[in-house]
Amino acid sequence: ADALRVALAGLGTVGGGVVKLLDANRELITRRAGRPIEVVAVSARDRTKDRGIDLSRFQWIDDTSALAQQADVDVVVELIGGSDGPALTLARATLAKGRHIVTANKAMLAHHGLELAQAAEAAGAALKFEAAVAGGIPVIKGLREGAAANEIGRVYGILNGTCNFILSKMEAEGRDFAEVLAEAQALGFAEADPTFDIDGIDAAHKLSILASLAFGTQPAFEHVAATGIRHVLGADIAEAAALGYRVRLVGLAEAGKAGLFQRVHPHLVPIDHPLAHVTGSTNAVVAEGNFVGRLLLQGAGAGEGPTASAVVADLIDIARGEYGPPFAMPAASLVAAEVADAGER
Ligand code: HSE
Repeated sequence: ADALRVALAGLGTVGGGVVKLLDANRELITRRAGRPIEVVAVSARDRTKDRGIDLSRFQWIDDTSALAQQADVDVVVELIGGSDGPALTLARATLAKGRHIVTANKAMLAHHGLELAQAAEAAGAALKFEAAVAGGIPVIKGLREGAAANEIGRVYGILNGTCNFILSKMEAEGRDFAEVLAEAQALGFAEADPTFDIDGIDAAHKLSILASLAFGTQPAFEHVAATGIRHVLGADIAEAAALGYRVRLVGLAEAGKAGLFQRVHPHLVPIDHPLAHVTGSTNAVVAEGNFVGRLLLQGAGAGEGPTASAVVADLIDIARGEYGPPFAMPAASLVAAEVADAGER
């Protein structure tokens, strides 16, 4: 069968991982996809940087948005990041051209998800984003497909590896926030702007996407109330521990009487709850369905291998022609998201 031809925009940690994974597991990916998946063109800010992979076999395109126009491309993989700018320009151009897009860009989906979903549906193209939320953990597939027949009461979880690393380190070593921040950043999981991690914005981006899948709302970052971990003290964590709790940055979306409640803030998690035992940069997502019960999905929420796995899983779906509306139901039926006041919950 004809290969699925891929253009890759962005060759950072995840982009490099995608090339390595497609090379290493070529045979099994071809079998599972029913046809080969071939990278045909790439675009990145720095052409000369040594990424430990042979990139000379690909066509290099300097103007990122031109990737969408390449004659021999079926799908664009967008790994540039940023809610607007070149990533959004590329996504719009790709869908306008009727081509598929796979993206890890949670910020872009949190701000422009509805518009992009409408464009994808109008074009009959795929918009896939498993890598955008919780890296290697199949939370999008889990909610979209696994819980497809369920009414979801709540979805919540630990959605930022950088914050969870910091909080678990503060807890284990009795240190303060500022001391462990630099260590967390050195891990390479932090956002380009690390305040997005620390202030709960990255988790809020991801939560708005999960809420859309769980509740059929339009992804709406502006309706997520977010507080980060900047003001959590070592003493707070010790005090919580003495009372039988651990501090975790939790994003939670819940259908309440007053509307959809979407919040990210440091939570006191009882020691007997599974989220209390999620340590380091690990992520975990809990969804409560009326027939399936409580689902817990846990694993690596960032990093080269896990995030590349999610990107390539989406490419395999596209190669097989298996994709539906991006947010589990047609964009036209997604309702406006609102945030219920915490007091009315
Ligand atoms: N900055 C994110 C985190 C990366 O720390 O979890 C994965 O989205």
